[in-house]
Amino acid sequence: MQRLKNKHVILGVTGGIAAYKSADLARRLRKAGAQVRVVMTAKAKEFITPLTMQAVSGNPVHDDLFDLKAEAAMGHIELARWADVILVAPATAGFIARLVNGEAGDLLTTLCLATTAPLVLAPAMNQAMWKNTLTQDNVQALHAKKIAVLGPGEGDQACGDVGPGRMLEPQELVDRLSEIFATGRLTGQRVLITAGPTREAIDPVRYISNASSGKMGYALAMAAAEAGADVVLISGPVDLEKPTHMKCIDVVSAEEMHAAVMKEVDACDVFLSVAAVADYRCKTVATQKIAKKEAELTLMLERNPDIVASVAALSKKPFVVGFAAETENLIAHAKAKLKNKKLDMVIANQVGQKEVGFDSDDNAATVIWQTQEKIYPRMSKQKLARELIALIADQIKK
Ligand code: C5P
Repeated sequence: MQRLKNKHVILGVTGGIAAYKSADLARRLRKAGAQVRVVMTAKAKEFITPLTMQAVSGNPVHDDLFDLKAEAAMGHIELARWADVILVAPATAGFIARLVNGEAGDLLTTLCLATTAPLVLAPAMNQAMWKNTLTQDNVQALHAKKIAVLGPGEGDQACGDVGPGRMLEPQELVDRLSEIFATGRLTGQRVLITAGPTREAIDPVRYISNASSGKMGYALAMAAAEAGADVVLISGPVDLEKPTHMKCIDVVSAEEMHAAVMKEVDACDVFLSVAAVADYRCKTVATQKIAKKEAELTLMLERNPDIVASVAALSKKPFVVGFAAETENLIAHAKAKLKNKKLDMVIANQVGQKEVGFDSDDNAATVIWQTQEKIYPRMSKQKLARELIALIADQIKK
């Protein structure tokens, strides 16, 4: 399972000799499919150059909290929001101490405080510094705050000492980091997901469709698979790479999607209806390309089946989650959908804006179920997907 695929990893590099391994680490993270942005402390730059880290990460290096140019491109709060995980490797004794103290004196510590993403530290220092009770107290404080500490390993040290304090090897860090994304929350559950738009033919070359990119549905499918579910993804036409480790079924029209869902639904425990299904199709589809003869052309449309409502109406129904993509009165429309379509949960998101919704990489949502509501602020669709899957898993357990 490529758990790091498309994950946004901030690689923090602090000033220790093991920083020379951070270049290899960045390269391996990218090879595992992650997008990597490197943040360096001033001391890290004494050990390895930003140019090297930029070349291996494929992105500009961030190193200054007060750099106006960098802030204009991607501000520190935006960077904190971008991250799916922050890995600090190497993490020196000094960095760990500053973090435990809640200091925000430079870009890296500020990001660690500002992010909601998991923090993972790979300590690297002299064995005596590692064993020092001040360091050990700080490491205990990290454990208490559920900040993951990977390593250190034992062995020969750059200073000639032998003992604990070596940064774990880059590939081990990549493997251990990917485990963070495996939650096991949906182990044993079968999840059926629809994604993308549908296309309703007008004639052999034209169709009616919408701007859904499929990104949210695909992100949810991957998050469900990461959480251990058996996933079936039924997708309308999208321009996305097929996720691995799941059954993928391609469809074009709403009727095809409806038929595919009805075939798969019996075997599933959860149905996530993320697709932007066309509400109407042409009553008759022209067999030949319609010629441009008349000044006006009338198309007669008829209703498509409401897929999510038909699943929710089944006597043996799964846990049904619908989406409400609206340009106005978001919450009122979403609540009406929850009730009218007899859904177990509805995920409401505003569309028609550039930053969030249909074709963008970010999304924000309000989830409504029974008498409860939960607001998820703007974040990447991958991160939102993982949070939504966690919420759905909790509800199923109840
Ligand atoms: O009614 P509306 O299209 O706004 O509802 C959105 C929800 O209903 C989404 O979950 C969408 O996948 C689902 N839907 C459906 N079949 C349709 C129309 C919408 O499953 N024909």
